[in-house]
Amino acid sequence: MRKRRLGKNGPEVFPVGLGGMPLSIAGRPSEEEAIRTIHAALDAGMDLIDTADVYCLDDADMGHNERLIAKALRQWKGGRQVLVATKGGLRRPAGAWTRDARPERMKEACEASLRALGVETLDLYQLHAPDEKVRFEDTVGALAELKKAGKVRLVGLSNVSVAQIRTAVGIVPVATVQNRFNPFFREAEQSGVLKACEELGLGFLPYSPVGGGRLNKKLPTHAVVRAVAQRLGTTPHAAVLAWVMAKSPACIPIPGASRPGSAVASVAAASVNLSLSDIAEIDRASFPTD
Ligand SMILES: NC(=O)c1ccc[n+]([C@@H]2O[C@H](COP(=O)([O-])OP(=O)(O)OC[C@H]3O[C@@H](n4cnc5c(N)ncnc54)[C@H](OP(=O)(O)O)[C@@H]3O)[C@@H](O)[C@H]2O)c1
Repeated sequence: MRKRRLGKNGPEVFPVGLGGMPLSIAGRPSEEEAIRTIHAALDAGMDLIDTADVYCLDDADMGHNERLIAKALRQWKGGRQVLVATKGGLRRPAGAWTRDARPERMKEACEASLRALGVETLDLYQLHAPDEKVRFEDTVGALAELKKAGKVRLVGLSNVSVAQIRTAVGIVPVATVQNRFNPFFREAEQSGVLKACEELGLGFLPYSPVGGGRLNKKLPTHAVVRAVAQRLGTTPHAAVLAWVMAKSPACIPIPGASRPGSAVASVAAASVNLSLSDIAEIDRASFPTD
């Protein structure tokens, strides 16, 4: 297993990170089980956790996932450096997901994330999604100011187009892009976002890499995925994560987990080597989303 770099100037990390979202949204596990899940991921070798201020139930619960991760890290005995990537730019009024990436809000959200994580500098701060009511350049300008002020070490973008990536890199050094990418949804490959990340030397963090909370359940019965997994002696989820990683050395998938077993199974994906024909088989297969 080789580590992968978070962008050409970023640190090296284990090639699979932990997505924190299922630990804090509706249907979340108990705090004890959530902390066991985070510890299992770290004990198995992960050293990147993806979170966001909005991984919570609603506005009153903002920062739930960040506080949980901070607590788990304080209790963890592993002693290794763990990079926490968080995000700002959304809100959760009454449990809905809305955008608010005004520059002043980005700064306020950054301060709240610093408090929730109990750190002086965020390792990686990502714009969660562009806000159509705000000039994109103004939002990215706020990230540049936060970086200049030392509040943020690395800047990332999420849910962005190739044009937005190119605009942002003209304003601030960008380390990573986080867009959805899995066999069901391949826009990141088709739209050129993944290629742009390679060209610009950015890390790419595919989110929902096994399809998301609903679609991942289709993998164990997917004929092609199951056959590839069986041939390689691995699980369908790990085969799909290996397919995502095989797409580019820039890819560092961040599968979510609400159980220790899922996190540990995702770590195993880093040791799965798909052949070119395995990759082509999954490429050609149909992945209905209904
Ligand atoms: N930037 C954005 O807009 C955005 C949007 C969505 C997600 N994200 C980030 O991306 C992360 C991942 O996305 P996601 O959580 O939506 O979807 P996902 O990673 O595709 O799927 C998550 C679910 O798949 C199951 N799973 C994952 N790996 C598994 C494995 N190796 N074996 C068996 N089951 C496995 C888990 O089940 P159990 O719950 O049973 O463990 C988990 O709840 C999130 O946690 C979040 O950090 C970002």
